[in-house]
Amino acid sequence: MTLVAEPKIEISKAVKLEEISVPGYERVVKVSHRESGLVGIICIHNMTMGPALGGTRIYPYKTFDDALNDVKRLAKGMTYKSCVAGTGLGGGKSVIIADSRTQKTPELLYAFGQAVNALGGTYICAEDIGATTDDMTTINKATPYVVGLPHEKSSGDPSPFTAWGTLLGIKACLKKIYGDTSVAGRKIAVQGLGAVGSRLAELLFWEGADLIVSDIDSQRLEKIANKLSAKIVPPEGILSTQCDVVSPCAMGGIINEHSISELRCKAIAGSANNQLLKDSDADILVQKGILYAPDFVINAGGLINVTEELSKEGYRSVEARRKVEKLSEELAFIFQIAESNQCSTHSAAISLVDYHLKYRVGVRTAPLYFHHSDHIL
Ligand code: NAI
Repeated sequence: MTLVAEPKIEISKAVKLEEISVPGYERVVKVSHRESGLVGIICIHNMTMGPALGGTRIYPYKTFDDALNDVKRLAKGMTYKSCVAGTGLGGGKSVIIADSRTQKTPELLYAFGQAVNALGGTYICAEDIGATTDDMTTINKATPYVVGLPHEKSSGDPSPFTAWGTLLGIKACLKKIYGDTSVAGRKIAVQGLGAVGSRLAELLFWEGADLIVSDIDSQRLEKIANKLSAKIVPPEGILSTQCDVVSPCAMGGIINEHSISELRCKAIAGSANNQLLKDSDADILVQKGILYAPDFVINAGGLINVTEELSKEGYRSVEARRKVEKLSEELAFIFQIAESNQCSTHSAAISLVDYHLKYRVGVRTAPLYFHHSDHIL
């Protein structure tokens, strides 16, 4: 059994790790490696439930502070998501400050893998925006602490499971509003037809939904819209479309004071992370009578799927699907808490997280098995 796979890429100088003190966070580390040009941050928000797991975002942030703010926000979101999904993992995230199209090299990824390895399994990385499953393979050359590899002992691309969970979340909203989960004939507006949004749109199509779609990539948009007989609206018009459900599957921060005033839907249920610009936006949605499926609950399918590969038995897609299906009940429970406590669904979901953390509900007791690297943590 090996701790670290044999390095295939030569890195002559060690990766530098510098601690950054951030109140409320367990560990924040700036990671850099001069020769490969690596500058990044690994952020561990909370490890009450277990080692922190979260994706690695590769993005050309304008400043280091922009990257720090983003990784803090995302790591906290992972604590919430893991808690509600019951993965027995903590919340963490990492960012690499680079343009993924021009600056992402095997050396940079390998150096990042060395930094992850230096944290001894307290942080486990995965694919995120700007990174691919193949990039995870390169990182895996330096560390076993990575999930979502295109490897027979790993879970691969999480997007189909995120899309599946999002569909179930949309149905949970419809059940709450109309007393019926069926999407047939319901108008669903999907913002962003990327890895998750395109799959979600296809699932909705087969269940008879009346689709409205938008994407900033017009070629992609037209191709998918034609295939699914979906109505196209320009990116600036998707949130104000009259429909049953708006499903944000692109960017964060899109639900804000301004956009809420334009919404003409009954529910918001999509995969995008950090959909609310501010927590208080959830209260404005309540006032407008719009049901909101908290993002960190509805989009946990991918996380549940990658966690499955860490089980003793190894990755089993059926088991992952079974666990993702529980998200419907979780959302229904959150809607119920919100109703009883007369609060927003977002506040209800956060109170559920607080409860789990306080009473350590769902703390990991089983070891983590990194089957792709023959390593146990
Ligand atoms: P992606 O990068 O494959 O797709 C995003 C799509 O949104 C692209 O097609 C892009 O052109 C489009 N887009 C960007 N700005 C837009 C705008 N203003 N209006 C309309 N379309 C726009 O990303 P992916 O993987 O599909 O993820 C979508 C969202 O879901 C992201 O916020 C991501 O963080 C979140 N998420 C994804 C998970 C996964 O398993 N892939 C898991 C959990 C959350």
